Amino acid sequence: MTYSDKMLRDDALSGKTIVVTGGGSGLGKAMTQYFLELGAKVAITSRNLEKLQATADELSSLTGGECFAVSCDVREYDQVVEMHEKVVEKLGPIDVLLNNAAGNFISPTENLSANAFDTIIDIVLKGTKNCTLVFGKHWIKTKQKNVNVLNIITTYAFTGSGYVVPSAVSKAGVLAMTRSLAVEWAKYGMRFNAIAPGPFPTKGAWERLLPGPLVKKFDPAKKVPLGRVGEHQELANLAAYMVSDFGAYLNGETIVLDGGEWLKGAGQFNMLDKIPKAMWTMLRKIMLKKK
Ligand code: HXC
Ligand code: NAP
Repeated sequence: MTYSDKMLRDDALSGKTIVVTGGGSGLGKAMTQYFLELGAKVAITSRNLEKLQATADELSSLTGGECFAVSCDVREYDQVVEMHEKVVEKLGPIDVLLNNAAGNFISPTENLSANAFDTIIDIVLKGTKNCTLVFGKHWIKTKQKNVNVLNIITTYAFTGSGYVVPSAVSKAGVLAMTRSLAVEWAKYGMRFNAIAPGPFPTKGAWERLLPGPLVKKFDPAKKVPLGRVGEHQELANLAAYMVSDFGAYLNGETIVLDGGEWLKGAGQFNMLDKIPKAMWTMLRKIMLKKK
């Protein structure tokens, strides 16, 4: 068995209907594939219907599951209402909302136009708010219980990070929403959780966060104590557990899946990793002499 094997029993999500925003590519696609393999019906949604339909067709034939593509710009509340109606009509009551859609790019903050900043806030924070409000209000109105929302955030939601400030601000807001509603809406039978992934290579993220020569200059694996980036199945395993009934007691939690990356950046003396073994002997002698 290896860490990239599929973790849950085959029927772990049977009977569940799941909506994955941004499900046409990258991590959303990987999670969708595993949800289908575990017996769920999945609706994938984003702006680009052609891309979504190609993914839905590919994953349906690969898994034999039912994958429904529906276009929706999560920035627009009316489009989210319409997307929700279409999914309920096609697949029946929804059990899980996975807020995965995002927009991001690197830039010195002083170079950002007001519209550039707003664009990221609108996709990440407002988009998550729009979906959460539409789905949550419906669940409350229809008294549907045992439902949950999983939000994909980042570790800089709690550390902050330069050069991706609109994303950091937005993901921090999503984290606050996760924790707030985990308490407020538990009485309606809803759970809210989040995953903060470390580096998981995807075309969407790599093109925008490590463009051109940066990908050679900054190898993300070098920042991870475990010495590697994540594999999509590792994230899919965790997400499937969290949205399934096995995760029924998990509420308000953020699980970091990053091989220790953010802690390495945070620990004040972790840079001493760079000191070779032989030098430690010399340093020890110097310190003991001082005593
Ligand atoms: C500065 C930029 C810019 C850049 C766009 N803008 N890219 N400014 N540097 N690289 C500015 C534009 O000039 C414009 O401002 C405003 O942002 C909106 O740009 P549009 O192209 O009109 O927006 P839109 O078509 O809506 O596209 C949104 C997008 C795009 C975010 C810019 O990249 C996108 O569609 N992204 C979706 C997928 C994505 O980003 N995936 C990566 C997620 S990775 P003006 O003022 O000129 O009008 C992720 C990982 C986090 O989140 C953690 C990793 C460890
Ligand atoms: P990705 O493939 O670019 O995924 C982003 C998705 O969001 C795309 O499918 C995109 O589809 C959709 N989207 C963007 N704007 C939208 C909008 N306005 N309305 C609806 N959908 C929209 O990148 P990814 O790496 O898989 O990222 C997935 C999630 O993981 C994001 O939340 C990201 O912040 C998070 N994350 C990723 C990493 C990583 O290392 N990859 C690390 C930490 C966190 P359309 O273009 O068709 O709309």
